[in-house]
Amino acid sequence: MALTSELGKQIKLKEVEGTLLQPATVDNWSQIQSFEAKPDDLLICTYPKAGTTWIQEIVDMIEQNGDLEKCQRAIIQHRHPFIEWARPPQPSETGFHHVAQVGLKLLSSSNPPALTSQSAKITDLLPPSFWENNCKFLYVARNAKDCMVSYYHFQRMNHMLPDPGTWEEYFETFINGKVVWGSWFDHVKGWWKMKDRYHILFLFYEDIKRDPKHEIRKVMQFMGKNLDETVLDKIVQETSFEKMKENPMTNRSTVSKSIMDQSISSFMRKGTVGDWKNHFTVAQNERFDEIYRKKMEGTFINFCMEL
Ligand code: A3P
Repeated sequence: MALTSELGKQIKLKEVEGTLLQPATVDNWSQIQSFEAKPDDLLICTYPKAGTTWIQEIVDMIEQNGDLEKCQRAIIQHRHPFIEWARPPQPSETGFHHVAQVGLKLLSSSNPPALTSQSAKITDLLPPSFWENNCKFLYVARNAKDCMVSYYHFQRMNHMLPDPGTWEEYFETFINGKVVWGSWFDHVKGWWKMKDRYHILFLFYEDIKRDPKHEIRKVMQFMGKNLDETVLDKIVQETSFEKMKENPMTNRSTVSKSIMDQSISSFMRKGTVGDWKNHFTVAQNERFDEIYRKKMEGTFINFCMEL
């Protein structure tokens, strides 16, 4: 126990193009950048804690035509490997080998496996072959305040990330973008600005929460699939927070406690909209809204303030 918290404290993030990353990602940077995407690849991209696991499971359920058993073939991190983890493919993952070493969240439409990425300044950090091949991108944004809260609790329990300190300290860390994958503002704004220039389906966590069937149908159409209503209903049901929290293939229960200590905070923690209200003080909220207005000026979304 003492050993794992020591380990967490020892984590020193590294910087690429001004964005903080985990050391393993930086050490594998040239390998990640040389990833060769194919024109029919689909890349799932998110800022950390925006509902990455949720959209990964939705995509796999669609790809497997709603067959839950097929989605139980491996844990989600192996079904849709992160390019940035640069993890070698496992024997059970035939078909993944062409993506597993490069860690973005990506799906090949010709060959079901998906990859995932949390690249921040996308034009700088994403392997260039994704742009060159005009790949499809599936981006999920979640309001910054809930991302901050979720990330705070994630850093508390994840020993591969720095200790977040107190909530007050973390508030400063987050708004200054001093977290892995950098500033929420740069990430979301960057993808939003690209969305009309590339083949990007831009989704919001809050929309999926409010009307999952409607949003899942959009994903299905984007993937070029056509599933009937009963299959869509099943996907809605099986990708609910309650189901995914109980599902060992999605809830990270297979991850060693020395990496993720779920007795500190669950990976599937609350899955709600607006938990920031239980964390932000009135002063923090006012300050955040002011920063938000400045940083997001000229783009979209007041959605952080409307919740
Ligand atoms: P909370 O910490 O607010 O509960 P990521 O997968 O990007 O790391 O995001 C994790 C966040 O998404 C966590 O948020 C988690 O509970 C939430 N989440 C995961 N699956 C979900 C689902 N099916 N429905 C709603 N939220 C989900």
